[in-house]
Amino acid sequence: MFLQRFSFAFLFRFRSRFRHGQPDMKLPRTILGIETSCDETGAAVVADGRRVLSSVVSSQVALHSPYGGVVPELASRKHIEHILPVVRQALAEAGLKTGDIDAVAATQGPGLVGALLVGFSFAKAFAYAANVPMVGVNHLNGHLASLFLTDDPPAIPFVALLASGGHTAIYHVTGPVTSTLMGQTRDDAAGEAYDKVAKMMGLGYPGGAVIDNLAAQGDPAKYAFTRPYLDKAAFDFSFSGIKTAARRFIQEAGDALAPESPHIAAGFQEAVADVLCYKLVHAAKVKKCGHMALVGGVAANRRIGEKLRHAAKQEGLVVHIPPPAWCGDNAAMIGAAGFFQLAAGAEPVDLSADVYSRVA
Ligand code: KG4
Ligand code: ZN
Repeated sequence: MFLQRFSFAFLFRFRSRFRHGQPDMKLPRTILGIETSCDETGAAVVADGRRVLSSVVSSQVALHSPYGGVVPELASRKHIEHILPVVRQALAEAGLKTGDIDAVAATQGPGLVGALLVGFSFAKAFAYAANVPMVGVNHLNGHLASLFLTDDPPAIPFVALLASGGHTAIYHVTGPVTSTLMGQTRDDAAGEAYDKVAKMMGLGYPGGAVIDNLAAQGDPAKYAFTRPYLDKAAFDFSFSGIKTAARRFIQEAGDALAPESPHIAAGFQEAVADVLCYKLVHAAKVKKCGHMALVGGVAANRRIGEKLRHAAKQEGLVVHIPPPAWCGDNAAMIGAAGFFQLAAGAEPVDLSADVYSRVA
């Protein structure tokens, strides 16, 4: 039902704006998306901003895990090795050639500058050679656009919580390319807290999925983690206190850490999940939105998803969580965001465009 509303109402409006704004340009149908903001080299082909024809992600997890986190210079070098094969594979899996691509969208920031430069410069070269427009995509907008890759996207306006390794923020989304920041973390991102706690427990990097699995076997009530709601009316987050509590419990467990790990992981996860769910539901109520969404790598977490679905049911809200493939970093979401930007009349970038590490 909403799919129809979305496709016709929004696209029609976008098409007209696009035509009026730039009469010589046609709305691109087939977009090559490129993502290299951190440790995944991604390329995807997306049709009409909604249909994923292919999506290839080459992960660098094995490269970085001995260091307990992403080593920026190693990431850049690996992106250089992988970008061409990954783009070739994305085109091949879509059954397309360079000449079939109507536009290129690449992550411009925020992220690791050296990593971003690989994908962004490659995209510029591709767009120049293929003589098609290129747009720079904000990685965070890319995560929000992952919601439009599903068969049942949220009804606009909605509220969305982006929880990843670099960000934890709540947005009021008023269109596929328009959103307002309602609040964000004051210290660690939720995914970063998962990664740090996993590292303290000697569970390797990245820690999200490991803690997710370990916590499933633990008792979340055995260790008393506090819930840092901060101002309950506001939408800011802080995860450093939960992280410090985890460190204390880990130290206290000493030699008995192995049998206690599932309980510490479960207690930590339950505290993070409670705070995330409370703030997102509260945002939906304040903005009077019937739909809410969770995106970013942490959205793949089973317990957080379960709690959010339960809370949504109790409050009469509809919750949207993309499938795991669109939660973590990927290029399909970048292609989708690029499509909506062009459709909304965004100017293509020129060859002098630069990447940015942070949002100003
Ligand atoms: O969105 P993403 O792939 O990259 C960034 O933009 O940061 O998110 C990566 C983060 C990592 O911190 C990782 O530990 C976390 O997402 N993550 C999870 C799960 N899977 C990945 N956190 C909790 N539970 C998971 N199942
Ligand atoms: Zn991300």
